[in-house]
Amino acid sequence: MSPRQANADNIPGSIGIHAHYGVGLSFPSPMNPPDYKFDWKLDDGTVIAIRTMRPDDALIEQDFVRSLSPRSSAMRFFSPVRELSAAALKKFTNTDFPNEMALLATVDENGTEREIGVARYAPGSGSAQVEFAVVVADDWQCKGIGTELLRHLFSIESEVGINSIEGLILRENKAMLGLARKFGFSIRRDKEDADIVLEYKGIQIQAGQD
Ligand SMILES: CC(C)(COP(=O)(O)OP(=O)(O)OC[C@H]1O[C@@H](n2cnc3c(N)ncnc32)[C@H](O)[C@@H]1OP(=O)(O)O)[C@@H](O)C(=O)NCCC(=O)NCCS
Repeated sequence: MSPRQANADNIPGSIGIHAHYGVGLSFPSPMNPPDYKFDWKLDDGTVIAIRTMRPDDALIEQDFVRSLSPRSSAMRFFSPVRELSAAALKKFTNTDFPNEMALLATVDENGTEREIGVARYAPGSGSAQVEFAVVVADDWQCKGIGTELLRHLFSIESEVGINSIEGLILRENKAMLGLARKFGFSIRRDKEDADIVLEYKGIQIQAGQD
């Protein structure tokens, strides 16, 4: 899949993508994802919960996608997506673990849980076993949340035996390039699409450099 053709319905982990497994990854029976939950504090004391995406997260996931700025949405979905289709929403919130998995970052706002970020992996179209994607709410960016989401996601991938991952990003996505470098990804231009940089790492994932 070229990111140029991507939209909310054929991004990694969504409807319409062809399952493609790299060598060494074969999980024929879908399982419910384990109930991961990690609490983590920002420097200002705000508690962020990082937890498994569940089927009943459709509402907060849709609210989150609707809240994204056009730029963040375009960086994530390769064109601005105002909201997810019902099919994409269902697919996103019903992950086929361990082939795919999603982690949410949430905060408590006056007793209501608000999604402020999400990271996922799913079978992709490249040579790596899976593709990953991450997005953090605009007003929560640059606080380490993207790093923390990916740190946990990559650690889960390692646990289930996934050792090669890739991510497709737009060339101008300096924030994601920085984050990818932090995790030690190698970065290369996609041969099929000069505007796209592709990151790839074929060995065990490091847990960030913080
Ligand atoms: C990319 C994204 C997920 C980063 O999340 P984040 O929570 O803001 O990132 P962090 O605070 O953990 O920062 C991690 C690193 O990313 C880089 N980075 C983050 N924001 C940056 C920015 N605005 N400019 C340059 N580098 C940036 C830095 O290297 C940073 O490390 P440092 O803090 O040690 O300098 C976030 O900007 C985002 O959601 N963007 C829109 C969606 C997107 O582009 N997704 C990626 C494609 S799937």
